[in-house]
Amino acid sequence: MDISGLKTRFGFLQSGTCPQCGAPLYHPKTCPHVHGCFECGYTSIATKSQEERLREIQLQNRKDEALNYLRNTSCFGSPKVFNYNFGNYSPIDEKEAQVRNKALNMADKLAKGIKNDPMHIFLQGGTGRGKTHIAMAMMYEVLHESDYSKAVKKRVGDKYEYKQTPLAVTFVNWSRFMTLKQESIRDDDKASQFTLINTSLQTADIAIIDDLGKESNNDWYFQTFDELMEIREDQHIIITTNLEGEDLIKRYGDRSMSRLRKHARGNFISFAGIQDHRMLKEGK
Ligand SMILES: Nc1ncnc2c1ncn2[C@@H]1O[C@H](COP(=O)(O)OP(=O)(O)OP(=O)(O)O)[C@@H](O)[C@H]1O
Ligand SMILES: [Mg+2]
Repeated sequence: MDISGLKTRFGFLQSGTCPQCGAPLYHPKTCPHVHGCFECGYTSIATKSQEERLREIQLQNRKDEALNYLRNTSCFGSPKVFNYNFGNYSPIDEKEAQVRNKALNMADKLAKGIKNDPMHIFLQGGTGRGKTHIAMAMMYEVLHESDYSKAVKKRVGDKYEYKQTPLAVTFVNWSRFMTLKQESIRDDDKASQFTLINTSLQTADIAIIDDLGKESNNDWYFQTFDELMEIREDQHIIITTNLEGEDLIKRYGDRSMSRLRKHARGNFISFAGIQDHRMLKEGK
């Protein structure tokens, strides 16, 4: 193999000729802005074009907006949930690796159909198995895959154009949300907090409903879920629950469940056979 073959093999690509000595100029595959000459040692760092910079700023703005929306409209037990992603999900066995791969595939599918192909995703299993972790990880994956935005048709002058709009995503721990609803009856601050979260839960592009079924079982809770399902029937939902299918039907009724099942085919992840990570942390 000649020297240029070696350079290619070690990840360098040719990119024009050296302005100093006329020999071929190379850049590392992973770093197309840096160019160097192996003959005379000339190096240059190409600055990004204005267009590229503008695109990066627009992406960063959409990312900030989407993450601010998530933080401001969510109802959670611990802010720790915002740090859960696929990067810090480390499968400890084959079963967890399967869960991760299935969740990644579903997140990619959701990102591709963000506008027209609603998905209702169920993460079901016992406590400490990583359901909430995976739900948040899927949310971040969708945000990343879709560049934090969706194309929305808007009127510009006398015609319509597609504009990239930040994705609205929210995380609601269901029993905390129900407690907030109760507290909002007597507390004005809680009432405005509840209204904000309730509105985002009804309108967000993706809503995680965490720990469905943990709240106590009564008609008021049943009705709240029923009303929500009527509104979110054709929008993306990711549900985590400890309850089995039959128990979910018993608790929330056939009407809500049939709405949920409408977009749920193939979108079920079972955490059966996975270990309780809270117990593992305590060494039990
Ligand atoms: N494979 C994993 N890699 C890293 N951390 C994990 C993994 N699985 C679970 N965890 C961690 O274990 C803890 C429990 O996980 P999580 O809260 O997601 O469980 P859960 O199934 O939602 O439980 P619950 O039903 O009680 O809400 C979290 O801190 C989570 O980050
Ligand atoms: Mg959980």
